[in-house]
Amino acid sequence: MHHPMASTLYTVDFVTCALFLLLTCTIIHVVVSFLARTRKPNLKLPPGPTRLPIIGNLLELGEKPHQSLAKLAKTHGPVMSLKLGQVTSVVISSAEMAKEVLQTHDNFLSNRPIPQSVSVLNHEHYSLAFIPVTPLWRDLRKICNTQLFSHKSLDSSQDIRREKVQQLLNDVKKSSQIGEAIDIGREAFKITINLLSNTIFSEDLVHSSGTAGEFKELITNITKLVGSPNIADFFPQLKIIDPQSVKRQQSKNVAKVLDIFDHLIRKRLKLRGCIGSDTYNDMLNALLNISKENEMMDKTMIEHLAHDLFVAGTDTTAATLEWALTELVLNPEIMLKVKKELEEIIGKAKPVEESDIAKLPYLQAIIKETFRLHPPVPLLLPRKAERDVEICGYTIPKDAQVMVNVWTIGRDPTLWDNPNLFSPERFIGSEIDIKGRHFELAPFGAGRRICPAMMLAIRMLLMMLGSLINSFDWKLEDGMKLEDVNMDEKFGITLQKAQPLRLVPVNIGN
Ligand code: HEM
Ligand SMILES: *[C@@H]1O[C@H](CO)[C@@H](O)[C@H](O)[C@H]1NC(C)=O
Ligand SMILES: *[C@@H]1O[C@H](CO)[C@@H](O)[C@H](O)[C@H]1NC(C)=O
Repeated sequence: MHHPMASTLYTVDFVTCALFLLLTCTIIHVVVSFLARTRKPNLKLPPGPTRLPIIGNLLELGEKPHQSLAKLAKTHGPVMSLKLGQVTSVVISSAEMAKEVLQTHDNFLSNRPIPQSVSVLNHEHYSLAFIPVTPLWRDLRKICNTQLFSHKSLDSSQDIRREKVQQLLNDVKKSSQIGEAIDIGREAFKITINLLSNTIFSEDLVHSSGTAGEFKELITNITKLVGSPNIADFFPQLKIIDPQSVKRQQSKNVAKVLDIFDHLIRKRLKLRGCIGSDTYNDMLNALLNISKENEMMDKTMIEHLAHDLFVAGTDTTAATLEWALTELVLNPEIMLKVKKELEEIIGKAKPVEESDIAKLPYLQAIIKETFRLHPPVPLLLPRKAERDVEICGYTIPKDAQVMVNVWTIGRDPTLWDNPNLFSPERFIGSEIDIKGRHFELAPFGAGRRICPAMMLAIRMLLMMLGSLINSFDWKLEDGMKLEDVNMDEKFGITLQKAQPLRLVPVNIGN
């Protein structure tokens, strides 16, 4: 996930780091050669590119690691090993091998390496996304499955999300009246935060009027730091020095976010004291109900859980919406076809509801096709081997980090006809879904660590995308042609468009 050459911004840090590196490299070298001597002799590491001393293959990652790794895998195969600084890494690049890692051998591949940007303020001991598979993690996942993200609770919270989408449509309508272009990614980010904050707390955490965008900025800042390359993650010896100030900055951000949640929870506790516990139908209410029986679910736990839901859920959902709309604008005949489906099933200019989703196969196919070409988490969240694991005759050594390149699997010509063509039709009449059962398309991962909020993400995406295209026509800003739309990717914790998509909405309602 992390690579040091992501942008020239990091060059300055690199000069300072070089100094530390020179100092530490001798020590590292001695330690490494010592460890190498004590390694078991029958280990057969997966093949991979030649390593430089000390930095290993770090420089080969480039600005877009998922693309560089895809290229390397063409030479070295679907199970490939690299050394990223001091971290042995295994990269999986085929659907078949992804199944081995995420399903067959997931017993010892279900923990995660913990980046420095996550080990702040004890978050690493609470984080649903990063704690190892322990009774606590199992308990949290069970609560997710049975209470937070079950069909029943998502159904009962859909009214609050419907209202937010209506607000989005009203905002877009205002822009359409003055012919103003909208930055789709930014709008999607804002609305996704509010969809989540209402699902969790029944509150807007981004307000459409005014500049009080602190919460939004905090989530952006946290996500950025988690997604940026941090040299201390590749050379753990540098962690105490924190050469890029990642830990210092992240502690501030996370403290502020936890504080915002602290206030919301206190406010609710007071309310529950006065008017009882059945007034709200949101996740906070469910969690406070749970806390009465399960002492694990205390206020601190709820704060850290909410943190993870926002950080994992916002960028991913927003980026997918932006890519989907980009592909539709670039493919007018697909846009026409989906508009026709919406008009027939939903009715002209009406918003799409979550309960409509099952009736919209073509819209669903569009989302699948978007995930295939633009998986928002292209290397999934890395896993860590708890012990040596044998795969396909190779050994993934204990403590190696394991990444699954779903971006390259989505473009594998042995799995997909015309892999670079955006064609939702390929999913009509196909059994392939995105729920972690078909390893050729696994944008949410698979196995025990699969994204717990997959169903919520799909509901939000289809509802937003469907409503936006059923109520408006979308055209490029004046003077822009289809050829001008830049499809470059920007790698971070999520894969975003490098150039934001700006579109002018045209109201087609009455
Ligand atoms: C388009 C939207 C989304 C995509 C593509 C996505 C993708 C992913 C992926 C690839 C993983 C790692 C899976 C693995 O290791 O096999 C993950 C984990 C996770 N996601 Fe999502 N996600 C999305 C939306 C959301 C939303 C909306 C939320 C919360 C409201 C969320 C919460 C989480 C959490 C908490 C984890 C960690 C689970 C664990 O480690 O046990 N995600 N997601
Ligand atoms: C976000 O990060 C930037 C740059 O590090 C900083 O200037 C800004 O104050 C941060 N925002 C918040 C709300 O903390
Ligand atoms: C919380 O508990 C109250 C009282 O038992 C119940 O009425 C309510 O439905 C519960 N809320 C949730 C979201 O589980």
